[in-house]
Amino acid sequence: MKVLVVGSGAREHALVRSIVADPAVDTVIAAPGNPGIETLALCVPVDAMDGGAVADLAVAHGVDLVVVGPEAPLVAGVADVVRDRGVPVFGPSAEAARLEGSKAFAKEIMAAAGVPTAMARVCTTTEQAADALAAFGAPYVVKDDGLAAGKGVVVTDDADAALAHARDCLARPGGAVVVEEFLDGPEVSLFVVTDGVTAVPLAPAQDFKRVGDGDAGPNTGGMGAYSPLPWAPPGLVAEVVDRVAQPVINELARRGTPFAGLLYCGLALTSRGLRVVEFNARFGDPETQVVLARLRTPFASLLLAAATGDLAGFPPLRWSDDAAVTVVVASAGYPGTPRTGDPIAGLEDAGEVPGAWVLHAGTTRDADGTVVSSGGRVLSVVGTGRDLPAAREVAYRAVELVDLPGSHHRSDIAAAR
Ligand code: AMP
Ligand code: GLY
Repeated sequence: MKVLVVGSGAREHALVRSIVADPAVDTVIAAPGNPGIETLALCVPVDAMDGGAVADLAVAHGVDLVVVGPEAPLVAGVADVVRDRGVPVFGPSAEAARLEGSKAFAKEIMAAAGVPTAMARVCTTTEQAADALAAFGAPYVVKDDGLAAGKGVVVTDDADAALAHARDCLARPGGAVVVEEFLDGPEVSLFVVTDGVTAVPLAPAQDFKRVGDGDAGPNTGGMGAYSPLPWAPPGLVAEVVDRVAQPVINELARRGTPFAGLLYCGLALTSRGLRVVEFNARFGDPETQVVLARLRTPFASLLLAAATGDLAGFPPLRWSDDAAVTVVVASAGYPGTPRTGDPIAGLEDAGEVPGAWVLHAGTTRDADGTVVSSGGRVLSVVGTGRDLPAAREVAYRAVELVDLPGSHHRSDIAAAR
Protein backbone atom coordinates (compact mmCIF):
# COMPACT_ATOMS: atom_id res chain seq x y z
CA MET A 1 0.00 0.00 0.00
CA LYS A 2 1.13 3.56 -0.80
CA VAL A 3 0.05 6.23 1.68
CA LEU A 4 0.19 10.03 1.47
CA VAL A 5 0.13 11.91 4.79
CA VAL A 6 -0.82 15.60 4.69
CA GLY A 7 0.68 17.90 7.33
CA SER A 8 3.98 18.79 8.97
CA GLY A 9 3.70 18.49 12.76
CA ALA A 10 4.67 15.98 15.43
CA ARG A 11 1.22 14.41 15.06
CA GLU A 12 1.98 13.74 11.38
CA HIS A 13 5.44 12.43 12.32
CA ALA A 14 3.72 9.99 14.70
CA LEU A 15 1.17 9.03 12.02
CA VAL A 16 3.95 8.39 9.50
CA ARG A 17 5.95 6.36 12.03
CA SER A 18 2.99 4.04 12.67
CA ILE A 19 2.00 3.83 9.00
CA VAL A 20 5.56 2.85 8.00
CA ALA A 21 5.44 0.08 10.62
CA ASP A 22 2.37 -1.54 8.98
CA PRO A 23 3.60 -4.55 6.95
CA ALA A 24 0.98 -3.77 4.27
CA VAL A 25 2.69 -0.43 3.54
CA ASP A 26 5.60 -0.13 1.13
CA THR A 27 5.78 3.64 0.47
CA VAL A 28 4.88 6.72 2.47
CA ILE A 29 4.83 10.24 1.05
CA ALA A 30 4.34 13.37 3.15
CA ALA A 31 3.09 16.77 2.02
CA PRO A 32 4.95 18.79 3.07
CA GLY A 33 6.40 16.83 6.02
CA ASN A 34 9.36 18.01 8.10
CA PRO A 35 13.01 17.09 8.76
CA GLY A 36 11.96 14.30 11.14
CA ILE A 37 9.41 12.80 8.74
CA GLU A 38 12.05 12.95 5.99
CA THR A 39 13.91 10.05 7.62
CA LEU A 40 10.84 7.80 7.09
CA ALA A 41 9.02 9.14 4.03
CA LEU A 42 9.43 11.02 0.77
CA CYS A 43 8.64 14.66 1.62
CA VAL A 44 7.15 16.73 -1.22
CA PRO A 45 6.80 20.51 -0.80
CA VAL A 46 3.07 20.64 -1.50
CA ASP A 47 0.90 23.06 0.49
CA ALA A 48 -1.42 21.10 2.81
CA MET A 49 -4.17 23.68 2.18
CA ASP A 50 -4.11 23.25 -1.62
CA GLY A 51 -6.61 20.45 -2.27
CA GLY A 52 -5.92 20.38 -6.03
CA ALA A 53 -2.17 20.01 -5.50
CA VAL A 54 -2.65 17.31 -2.84
CA ALA A 55 -4.99 15.38 -5.17
CA ASP A 56 -2.54 15.75 -8.09
CA LEU A 57 0.26 14.38 -5.91
CA ALA A 58 -1.89 11.43 -4.80
CA VAL A 59 -2.88 10.58 -8.37
CA ALA A 60 0.65 11.06 -9.76
CA HIS A 61 2.06 8.58 -7.23
CA GLY A 62 -0.89 6.19 -7.46
CA VAL A 63 -1.46 6.28 -3.69
CA ASP A 64 -4.02 3.95 -2.13
CA LEU A 65 -4.83 6.18 0.84
CA VAL A 66 -4.51 9.86 1.77
CA VAL A 67 -4.47 10.73 5.49
CA VAL A 68 -5.15 14.39 6.30
CA GLY A 69 -3.58 15.36 9.64
CA PRO A 70 -4.50 18.96 10.57
CA GLU A 71 -7.90 20.63 10.94
CA ALA A 72 -7.38 23.60 8.63
CA PRO A 73 -7.21 21.55 5.37
CA LEU A 74 -10.17 19.43 6.51
CA VAL A 75 -12.32 22.46 7.26
CA ALA A 76 -11.20 23.93 3.90
CA GLY A 77 -12.40 20.79 2.06
CA VAL A 78 -9.10 19.18 1.05
CA ALA A 79 -10.49 15.68 1.78
CA ASP A 80 -13.47 16.38 -0.53
CA VAL A 81 -11.20 17.37 -3.44
CA VAL A 82 -9.11 14.20 -3.05
CA ARG A 83 -12.17 11.97 -2.64
CA ASP A 84 -13.74 13.48 -5.76
CA ARG A 85 -10.68 12.35 -7.69
CA GLY A 86 -11.39 8.75 -6.64
CA VAL A 87 -8.67 8.33 -4.01
CA PRO A 88 -9.68 6.92 -0.57
CA VAL A 89 -9.17 9.54 2.15
CA PHE A 90 -8.99 9.28 5.91
CA GLY A 91 -10.50 12.61 6.99
CA PRO A 92 -14.01 14.06 7.01
CA SER A 93 -15.67 16.29 4.42
CA ALA A 94 -15.71 20.05 4.99
CA GLU A 95 -19.39 19.76 5.98
CA ALA A 96 -18.68 17.13 8.65
CA ALA A 97 -15.48 18.90 9.81
CA ARG A 98 -17.69 21.82 10.90
CA LEU A 99 -17.99 19.80 14.09
CA GLU A 100 -14.55 21.27 14.85
CA GLY A 101 -14.68 24.36 12.59
CA SER A 102 -17.66 25.88 14.41
CA LYS A 103 -18.28 25.45 18.11
CA ALA A 104 -21.84 26.69 17.60
CA PHE A 105 -22.45 23.92 15.03
CA ALA A 106 -20.99 21.36 17.44
CA LYS A 107 -23.45 22.52 20.12
CA GLU A 108 -26.33 22.22 17.65
CA ILE A 109 -25.36 18.64 16.73
CA MET A 110 -24.96 17.69 20.40
CA ALA A 111 -28.38 19.12 21.24
CA ALA A 112 -29.97 17.21 18.34
CA ALA A 113 -28.19 13.97 19.30
CA GLY A 114 -28.82 14.29 23.06
CA VAL A 115 -25.12 14.37 23.91
CA PRO A 116 -24.17 15.74 27.36
CA THR A 117 -22.17 18.99 27.17
CA ALA A 118 -21.84 22.34 28.97
CA MET A 119 -24.85 24.66 28.80
CA ALA A 120 -23.91 27.42 26.38
CA ARG A 121 -25.04 30.55 24.58
CA VAL A 122 -23.85 31.61 21.13
CA CYS A 123 -23.25 35.39 21.11
CA THR A 124 -22.66 37.75 18.21
CA THR A 125 -22.60 41.06 20.12
CA THR A 126 -20.67 42.27 23.16
CA GLU A 127 -23.97 42.92 24.97
CA GLN A 128 -25.07 39.31 24.48
CA ALA A 129 -21.67 38.12 25.70
CA ALA A 130 -21.85 40.34 28.80
CA ASP A 131 -25.34 39.00 29.58
CA ALA A 132 -24.23 35.40 29.14
CA LEU A 133 -21.17 35.92 31.37
CA ALA A 134 -23.37 37.39 34.08
CA ALA A 135 -25.86 34.53 33.73
CA PHE A 136 -23.28 31.70 34.03
CA GLY A 137 -21.00 33.43 36.57
CA ALA A 138 -17.37 32.65 37.41
CA PRO A 139 -15.25 30.81 36.39
CA TYR A 140 -16.00 32.27 32.97
CA VAL A 141 -15.55 30.25 29.76
CA VAL A 142 -15.42 32.15 26.46
CA LYS A 143 -14.69 30.38 23.16
CA ASP A 144 -14.02 31.77 19.73
CA ASP A 145 -16.57 30.10 17.43
CA GLY A 146 -13.99 29.33 14.71
CA LEU A 147 -10.61 27.61 14.47
CA ALA A 148 -7.92 29.14 16.71
CA ALA A 149 -5.10 26.55 16.99
CA GLY A 150 -6.02 25.71 20.58
CA LYS A 151 -5.83 29.33 21.69
CA GLY A 152 -9.41 30.47 21.17
CA VAL A 153 -10.61 29.52 24.64
CA VAL A 154 -10.25 31.67 27.74
CA VAL A 155 -11.16 30.24 31.14
CA THR A 156 -10.82 32.86 33.88
CA ASP A 157 -12.23 34.23 37.12
CA ASP A 158 -11.66 37.75 35.80
CA ALA A 159 -14.89 39.10 34.27
CA ASP A 160 -13.05 41.91 32.46
CA ALA A 161 -10.60 39.48 30.85
CA ALA A 162 -13.49 37.24 29.78
CA LEU A 163 -15.33 40.14 28.19
CA ALA A 164 -12.14 41.45 26.55
CA HIS A 165 -11.60 38.04 24.88
CA ALA A 166 -15.20 38.04 23.66
CA ARG A 167 -14.75 41.54 22.26
CA ASP A 168 -11.52 40.51 20.42
CA CYS A 169 -13.23 37.51 18.82
CA LEU A 170 -16.33 39.51 17.89
CA ALA A 171 -14.21 42.24 16.27
CA ARG A 172 -13.35 39.85 13.42
CA PRO A 173 -15.71 39.82 10.42
CA GLY A 174 -18.49 37.31 11.07
CA GLY A 175 -17.12 36.80 14.59
CA ALA A 176 -19.12 34.82 17.13
CA VAL A 177 -18.33 33.46 20.58
CA VAL A 178 -19.70 30.66 22.69
CA VAL A 179 -20.04 31.51 26.39
CA GLU A 180 -20.61 28.45 28.52
CA GLU A 181 -20.88 26.87 31.91
CA PHE A 182 -17.58 25.91 33.59
CA LEU A 183 -16.93 22.17 33.74
CA ASP A 184 -14.97 20.84 36.70
CA GLY A 185 -13.13 17.53 36.84
CA PRO A 186 -10.32 15.82 34.92
CA GLU A 187 -10.22 15.93 31.11
CA VAL A 188 -9.90 12.93 28.82
CA SER A 189 -9.25 12.78 25.09
CA LEU A 190 -10.79 9.80 23.33
CA PHE A 191 -10.14 9.24 19.61
CA VAL A 192 -12.81 7.37 17.68
CA VAL A 193 -12.02 6.02 14.22
CA THR A 194 -15.17 5.93 12.08
CA ASP A 195 -16.25 5.24 8.50
CA GLY A 196 -19.40 7.27 9.03
CA VAL A 197 -21.37 4.35 10.49
CA THR A 198 -19.19 2.20 12.75
CA ALA A 199 -17.23 3.62 15.72
CA VAL A 200 -13.88 2.11 16.77
CA PRO A 201 -12.45 3.78 19.89
CA LEU A 202 -8.71 4.04 20.48
CA ALA A 203 -7.15 4.18 23.97
CA PRO A 204 -7.92 7.29 26.06
CA ALA A 205 -5.18 9.84 26.74
CA GLN A 206 -4.76 13.01 28.73
CA ASP A 207 -3.38 16.26 27.35
CA PHE A 208 -1.76 19.09 29.33
CA LYS A 209 -3.10 22.28 27.74
CA ARG A 210 -1.66 25.04 29.91
CA VAL A 211 1.83 26.28 29.24
CA GLY A 212 3.24 26.02 32.78
CA ASP A 213 3.74 23.44 35.51
CA GLY A 214 0.73 22.97 37.76
CA ASP A 215 -1.56 24.15 34.90
CA ALA A 216 -0.37 27.74 35.20
CA GLY A 217 -0.49 30.29 32.40
CA PRO A 218 -2.40 30.46 29.13
CA ASN A 219 -3.74 27.59 27.02
CA THR A 220 -1.52 26.17 24.28
CA GLY A 221 -1.95 23.62 21.52
CA GLY A 222 -0.86 21.04 24.16
CA MET A 223 2.39 20.69 26.14
CA GLY A 224 2.40 16.94 26.75
CA ALA A 225 0.25 13.84 27.08
CA TYR A 226 0.12 10.33 28.46
CA SER A 227 -1.74 7.06 28.00
CA PRO A 228 -3.18 4.87 29.46
CA LEU A 229 -5.16 6.59 32.24
CA PRO A 230 -4.93 4.24 35.24
CA TRP A 231 -7.44 6.36 37.16
CA ALA A 232 -10.17 6.34 34.49
CA PRO A 233 -13.40 4.49 35.38
CA PRO A 234 -13.43 1.01 33.75
CA GLY A 235 -16.54 1.63 31.63
CA LEU A 236 -15.43 5.04 30.34
CA VAL A 237 -14.63 4.13 26.73
CA ALA A 238 -17.89 2.22 26.24
CA GLU A 239 -19.85 5.08 27.82
CA VAL A 240 -18.25 7.65 25.51
CA VAL A 241 -19.00 5.53 22.45
CA ASP A 242 -22.63 4.92 23.52
CA ARG A 243 -23.49 8.40 24.78
CA VAL A 244 -21.26 10.63 22.64
CA ALA A 245 -19.52 9.23 19.55
CA GLN A 246 -22.20 6.94 18.14
CA PRO A 247 -25.06 9.47 18.58
CA VAL A 248 -23.00 12.18 16.82
CA ILE A 249 -21.99 9.81 14.00
CA ASN A 250 -25.65 8.79 13.60
CA GLU A 251 -26.86 12.42 13.61
CA LEU A 252 -24.36 13.51 10.94
CA ALA A 253 -25.24 10.47 8.80
CA ARG A 254 -28.95 11.27 9.19
CA ARG A 255 -28.29 14.81 7.90
CA GLY A 256 -26.61 13.40 4.79
CA THR A 257 -23.15 14.62 5.85
CA PRO A 258 -21.57 11.48 7.33
CA PHE A 259 -18.43 11.94 9.40
CA ALA A 260 -15.70 9.55 8.19
CA GLY A 261 -12.30 9.98 9.78
CA LEU A 262 -11.19 10.66 13.33
CA LEU A 263 -13.76 11.95 15.78
CA TYR A 264 -11.80 13.41 18.69
CA CYS A 265 -13.97 13.55 21.80
CA GLY A 266 -12.63 16.04 24.35
CA LEU A 267 -14.37 15.20 27.63
CA ALA A 268 -14.62 16.40 31.20
CA LEU A 269 -15.44 13.86 33.92
CA THR A 270 -17.39 16.26 36.10
CA SER A 271 -18.97 15.74 39.50
CA ARG A 272 -22.30 15.55 37.60
CA GLY A 273 -21.05 13.01 35.05
CA LEU A 274 -19.51 12.93 31.60
CA ARG A 275 -19.64 16.14 29.51
CA VAL A 276 -18.21 16.98 26.07
CA VAL A 277 -15.79 19.91 26.17
CA GLU A 278 -15.12 19.92 22.42
CA PHE A 279 -14.97 17.84 19.28
CA ASN A 280 -12.12 17.84 16.82
CA ALA A 281 -12.26 16.39 13.35
CA ARG A 282 -8.74 14.96 13.39
CA PHE A 283 -6.15 13.30 15.59
CA GLY A 284 -5.17 15.36 18.64
CA ASP A 285 -1.69 16.72 19.04
CA PRO A 286 0.13 15.68 21.29
CA GLU A 287 -2.21 12.81 22.33
CA THR A 288 -1.61 10.96 19.03
CA GLN A 289 2.06 10.65 19.92
CA VAL A 290 1.22 8.52 23.00
CA VAL A 291 -1.84 6.65 21.70
CA LEU A 292 -0.03 5.41 18.60
CA ALA A 293 3.02 4.50 20.68
CA ARG A 294 0.81 1.81 22.25
CA LEU A 295 -1.26 0.62 19.24
CA ARG A 296 -0.17 -2.77 17.90
CA THR A 297 -2.83 -3.21 15.19
CA PRO A 298 -1.47 -2.38 11.69
CA PHE A 299 -2.38 1.28 11.55
CA ALA A 300 -2.62 2.02 7.82
CA SER A 301 -4.95 -0.96 7.41
CA LEU A 302 -7.26 0.48 10.09
CA LEU A 303 -7.31 3.90 8.40
CA LEU A 304 -7.92 2.34 4.97
CA ALA A 305 -10.87 0.35 6.36
CA ALA A 306 -12.35 3.59 7.72
CA ALA A 307 -11.75 5.41 4.43
CA THR A 308 -13.45 2.67 2.40
CA GLY A 309 -16.44 2.04 4.70
CA ASP A 310 -15.18 -1.36 5.88
CA LEU A 311 -14.80 -0.84 9.63
CA ALA A 312 -17.66 -3.15 10.66
CA GLY A 313 -15.58 -6.23 9.74
CA PHE A 314 -12.29 -4.94 11.15
CA PRO A 315 -10.67 -7.17 13.82
CA PRO A 316 -10.55 -5.89 17.43
CA LEU A 317 -7.64 -3.54 18.07
CA ARG A 318 -4.53 -4.80 19.86
CA TRP A 319 -2.63 -2.69 22.39
CA SER A 320 0.73 -2.84 24.12
CA ASP A 321 0.61 -3.05 27.93
CA ASP A 322 3.29 -0.36 28.05
CA ALA A 323 2.62 3.24 29.02
CA ALA A 324 3.65 6.23 26.90
CA VAL A 325 4.42 9.83 27.85
CA THR A 326 5.21 12.71 25.53
CA VAL A 327 6.76 16.04 26.48
CA VAL A 328 6.59 19.01 24.11
CA VAL A 329 9.68 21.18 23.78
CA ALA A 330 8.54 24.71 22.87
CA SER A 331 10.33 27.80 21.58
CA ALA A 332 11.09 30.88 23.63
CA GLY A 333 7.97 33.04 23.55
CA TYR A 334 5.41 30.26 22.91
CA PRO A 335 2.36 30.42 23.16
CA GLY A 336 2.89 34.09 22.30
CA THR A 337 5.05 34.91 19.28
CA PRO A 338 7.67 32.15 19.17
CA ARG A 339 11.33 32.82 18.48
CA THR A 340 12.51 30.77 15.47
CA GLY A 341 15.80 29.94 13.74
CA ASP A 342 17.54 28.51 16.83
CA PRO A 343 19.76 25.45 16.21
CA ILE A 344 18.65 22.19 17.83
CA ALA A 345 21.39 19.92 19.20
CA GLY A 346 21.24 16.50 20.84
CA LEU A 347 18.49 15.02 18.65
CA GLU A 348 20.44 11.82 17.98
CA ASP A 349 21.43 11.31 21.60
CA ALA A 350 17.83 11.81 22.71
CA GLY A 351 16.61 9.29 20.14
CA GLU A 352 19.09 6.72 21.44
CA VAL A 353 17.63 6.62 24.94
CA PRO A 354 16.07 3.11 25.09
CA GLY A 355 12.29 3.37 24.71
CA ALA A 356 12.42 7.02 23.58
CA TRP A 357 12.04 8.74 20.22
CA VAL A 358 11.91 12.33 19.07
CA LEU A 359 9.11 13.58 16.85
CA HIS A 360 9.56 16.82 14.95
CA ALA A 361 6.97 19.62 14.84
CA GLY A 362 8.27 23.17 14.26
CA THR A 363 11.63 22.30 12.72
CA THR A 364 13.29 23.05 9.40
CA ARG A 365 16.76 22.86 7.87
CA ASP A 366 18.73 26.06 7.38
CA ALA A 367 20.97 26.72 4.35
CA ASP A 368 23.79 24.50 5.65
CA GLY A 369 21.49 21.63 6.63
CA THR A 370 21.34 22.26 10.39
CA VAL A 371 17.98 21.49 11.98
CA VAL A 372 16.61 24.74 13.46
CA SER A 373 13.36 25.73 15.17
CA SER A 374 10.61 27.11 12.93
CA GLY A 375 7.54 27.30 15.17
CA GLY A 376 6.11 27.33 18.68
CA ARG A 377 5.94 23.64 19.47
CA VAL A 378 9.28 22.36 18.17
CA LEU A 379 9.59 18.72 19.27
CA SER A 380 7.48 16.03 20.91
CA VAL A 381 9.72 13.68 22.84
CA VAL A 382 8.08 10.30 23.49
CA GLY A 383 9.07 7.86 26.24
CA THR A 384 7.67 4.36 26.77
CA GLY A 385 7.99 2.01 29.72
CA ARG A 386 6.20 -0.69 31.68
CA ASP A 387 4.15 1.90 33.60
CA LEU A 388 3.69 5.68 33.63
CA PRO A 389 6.53 6.50 36.05
CA ALA A 390 8.93 4.45 33.90
CA ALA A 391 7.71 6.04 30.64
CA ARG A 392 7.92 9.47 32.21
CA GLU A 393 11.48 8.86 33.33
CA VAL A 394 12.48 7.79 29.79
CA ALA A 395 10.79 10.81 28.18
CA TYR A 396 12.46 13.31 30.52
CA ARG A 397 15.86 11.61 30.19
CA ALA A 398 15.59 12.17 26.42
CA VAL A 399 14.29 15.75 26.81
CA GLU A 400 17.32 16.64 28.93
CA LEU A 401 19.61 15.61 26.04
CA VAL A 402 17.98 18.08 23.62
CA ASP A 403 19.51 21.52 23.47
CA LEU A 404 17.39 24.33 22.00
CA PRO A 405 18.39 27.82 23.22
CA GLY A 406 15.58 29.55 25.11
CA SER A 407 13.25 26.55 24.93
CA HIS A 408 10.83 25.54 27.65
CA HIS A 409 8.85 22.43 28.55
CA ARG A 410 6.63 21.34 31.41
CA SER A 411 8.31 19.20 34.05
CA ASP A 412 5.09 17.68 35.42
CA ILE A 413 3.66 15.76 32.45
CA ALA A 414 2.03 12.53 33.71
CA ALA A 415 3.03 13.36 37.27
CA ALA A 416 -0.56 14.26 38.17
CA ARG A 417 -3.83 14.45 36.30
P1 AMP B 1 -11.45 23.62 23.64
O1 AMP B 1 -10.68 24.30 22.53
O2 AMP B 1 -12.91 23.78 23.56
O3 AMP B 1 -10.96 22.23 23.86
O4 AMP B 1 -10.96 24.28 24.99
C1 AMP B 1 -9.60 24.27 25.35
C2 AMP B 1 -9.47 23.98 26.82
O5 AMP B 1 -10.16 24.96 27.58
C3 AMP B 1 -10.09 22.66 27.25
O6 AMP B 1 -9.26 21.58 27.08
C4 AMP B 1 -10.36 22.91 28.72
O7 AMP B 1 -9.19 22.75 29.48
C5 AMP B 1 -10.75 24.36 28.73
N1 AMP B 1 -12.20 24.44 28.66
C6 AMP B 1 -12.97 24.51 27.54
N2 AMP B 1 -14.28 24.55 27.86
C7 AMP B 1 -14.37 24.51 29.21
C8 AMP B 1 -15.44 24.52 30.14
N3 AMP B 1 -16.71 24.63 29.76
N4 AMP B 1 -15.13 24.44 31.45
C9 AMP B 1 -13.83 24.38 31.87
N5 AMP B 1 -12.79 24.36 31.04
C10 AMP B 1 -13.03 24.43 29.73
N1 GLY C 1 -4.38 18.36 22.09
C1 GLY C 1 -5.51 19.12 21.74
C2 GLY C 1 -5.81 19.18 20.33
O1 GLY C 1 -5.23 18.49 19.51
O2 GLY C 1 -6.69 19.94 19.97
